[in-house]
Amino acid sequence: MVSELQVKHEVLNPPLKWAGGKRWLVPILHTMWKHYSGYRLVEPFVGGMAVALGLRPQKALLNDSNSHLMNFYFWLQKGLHADVNFKNDSCYYYSCRERFNQLILNGEADTKEAANLFYFMNRTGYNGLCRFNSKNQFNVPFGRYKSLNYPKDFLGYVPVLRKWHFSAVDFVDLYLQPNDFVYADPPYDVQFTRYSASDFKWNDQIRLAEWLACHKGPVVASNQATERVLALYQSLNFSITFLDAPRRISCNGDRKPAREILATRGINLNKLL
Ligand SMILES: C[S@@+](CC[C@H](N)C(=O)[O-])C[C@H]1O[C@@H](n2cnc3c(N)ncnc32)[C@H](O)[C@@H]1O
Repeated sequence: MVSELQVKHEVLNPPLKWAGGKRWLVPILHTMWKHYSGYRLVEPFVGGMAVALGLRPQKALLNDSNSHLMNFYFWLQKGLHADVNFKNDSCYYYSCRERFNQLILNGEADTKEAANLFYFMNRTGYNGLCRFNSKNQFNVPFGRYKSLNYPKDFLGYVPVLRKWHFSAVDFVDLYLQPNDFVYADPPYDVQFTRYSASDFKWNDQIRLAEWLACHKGPVVASNQATERVLALYQSLNFSITFLDAPRRISCNGDRKPAREILATRGINLNKLL
């Protein structure tokens, strides 16, 4: 499946490190997507963009509530050439972090400079994490990588991203049409820990499942296979498929493998898988 995708397109890798990246899921999603490839792909939680770059829809609405991430994609769409000095040095990293936080305070977080700094910190900060303190200041420490090797020129992304739309809102503010194929990959439900690092709480999981169940077109949602996620999607008449995910960086930096589910509606799985 992957080679079939590669023959059709020049492969574009996700340009950022992003927790919960779903590149490994693209071949499975493609078995469903290929029957709807004339549809608009809507990703309410686009994160590292692995799925959209893997499926390469003609039309897409890609959203994430992280406005800094979406600012980076906005500039990527315009043909970003990363022009910060990519030094692998802790003092330099912290001076860039300070400058980025100053841009946020100045109301200049939507600039090309902010996009460049965001990219640099994504590649040199600890584990590619994206974390802000209560004052909305980026606070990820230096990553201490032995060496850094990453692209600076993103011109290859321009023709692919040109027709896609990007937004940075809460998922519920997206306006869906019946001819939308929705792939939703929210932060994972973490059922058995008292403290969740994610702002995405159980109420948000419920609100998402109910919002997806109202969609008139095909829907695929992925999540950790906790008992309550399973019960939630089953109660809303989704079909459930279990998957074993590869080792991954979760949103809190944990690297444990996870049992996952794909919850689908409006897609006949017997025909496809
Ligand atoms: C598991 S990650 C998505 C990973 C993505 N599928 C990939 O392949 O990289 C979940 C994303 O949801 C975003 N998010 C969290 N709460 C949100 C909300 N209420 N509305 C929209 N996006 C949200 C986070 O910023 C994060 O990027």
